[in-house]
Amino acid sequence: MTDISLYQRRRALLQQQMGRGIAVIPTAEEVERNGDTHYAYRHDSSFYYLTGFTEPEAVLVLIAGDEPKSILFCREKNAEREIWDGFRYGPEAAQAEFGFDATYPVAQLHEKLVELMGNQPSLFCPLGADADWDARLLKLRGEVQAKVRSGVRAPNEVRDVRALLHEMRLIKDSHEIAVMRRAAAISAEAHRRAMRFTRPGRMEYEVEAELVHEFVRHGARHQAYPAIVAGGASACVLHYVSNDRKLRDGDLLLIDAGCELEGYAADITRTFPVNGRFSAAQRDVYEIVLAAQSAAFAASRPGNSWDAPHEAAVRVLAQGMLDLKLLTGTLDGVIESGAYKRFYMHRTGHWLGMDVHDVGDYKVDDRWRSLQPGMAYTIEPGCYIRPADDVPEALWNIGIRIEDDVVITADGCENLTADAPKTLSEIEEIMRDE
Ligand code: GLY
Ligand code: MN
Ligand code: MN
Repeated sequence: MTDISLYQRRRALLQQQMGRGIAVIPTAEEVERNGDTHYAYRHDSSFYYLTGFTEPEAVLVLIAGDEPKSILFCREKNAEREIWDGFRYGPEAAQAEFGFDATYPVAQLHEKLVELMGNQPSLFCPLGADADWDARLLKLRGEVQAKVRSGVRAPNEVRDVRALLHEMRLIKDSHEIAVMRRAAAISAEAHRRAMRFTRPGRMEYEVEAELVHEFVRHGARHQAYPAIVAGGASACVLHYVSNDRKLRDGDLLLIDAGCELEGYAADITRTFPVNGRFSAAQRDVYEIVLAAQSAAFAASRPGNSWDAPHEAAVRVLAQGMLDLKLLTGTLDGVIESGAYKRFYMHRTGHWLGMDVHDVGDYKVDDRWRSLQPGMAYTIEPGCYIRPADDVPEALWNIGIRIEDDVVITADGCENLTADAPKTLSEIEEIMRDE
């Protein structure tokens, strides 16, 4: 059962922030994959955030001002299409089920919008997100403008509604955090299963199949992003997704995988030995990445800057690189010069929510923003060592990342993905059990 009030509250909040005007927020298009078949349909995140509605061909229109209204345009009921493609709400049922003030068939969008846009001072839309929609709305605005002699005025400003929406989405409410906890728990369980399954001789895609099976059997029908299952040297390719090599005794396996549940993403990385036992060199690098992650966790609390966890992780990683003789010089020197980026070239996290790399500005007025309760993000330090003449050979092709998902709380942070084994002994134990 849809909790209507949740979406109604979000729409009301957006309307308040708009002041006066009209917002037009379409959901995502269906995309063809090959003749007559489509990629699995995924609604637009912001549209879903405001409606809870997951059908394609739908548009939300909000009127803000003295008489706020929320209006949905969606597909009509169609007995013939429903035999082929399944249930669709249709305007009448959608109005009752999702709590809109009015609903219309999407075929009437154009005609109704010309009417609704008249005399609104501002038009809010996801400006720049889709050139076709921008053009369509401007053309529509032109049609309203053409009615000027009958006393109708067109909006004289067009604003990007995402500026307001993304700030709202940045702070997760209790419903969102509850869903994210479940997405995280399913994903952590999948990583445990992958650890139990992995052994030399198995293929990377066989491990991927275990992950996907675990997601789907819990009702999480889609991966939040294509899983990275990277044995040995492939772990040093940051976006490796071929997943088609054989796992070798003595190598590490890096898995970056998370499910999407009810529109929310989990994003977990674990790195572990294919044969279940870390070598001395693997252990050395792993301990450094884990310590860097602990430092980032410790810096994850309200009031700290967004950059504090990254800075904390970089200090530990850079010191580790000096200790391993990957770098020479002083700690401040290698941080200042950026020399550490040869082995750690990404940042320590990103906002997480409906989108894996979720929306929200990282800086406000040119300064890193402060962490606040309800902000959700990943903590994912890593170290990637490619073969080179000036690198100790024992460390070649070691690629390690450890990634958890957190939400800032009143006095620190909650680790949503704590159930995925992470310490050396936890990992060796779960792999020994098989
Ligand atoms: N899985 C995508 C990322 O870690 O950013
Ligand atoms: Mn990831
Ligand atoms: Mn991530």
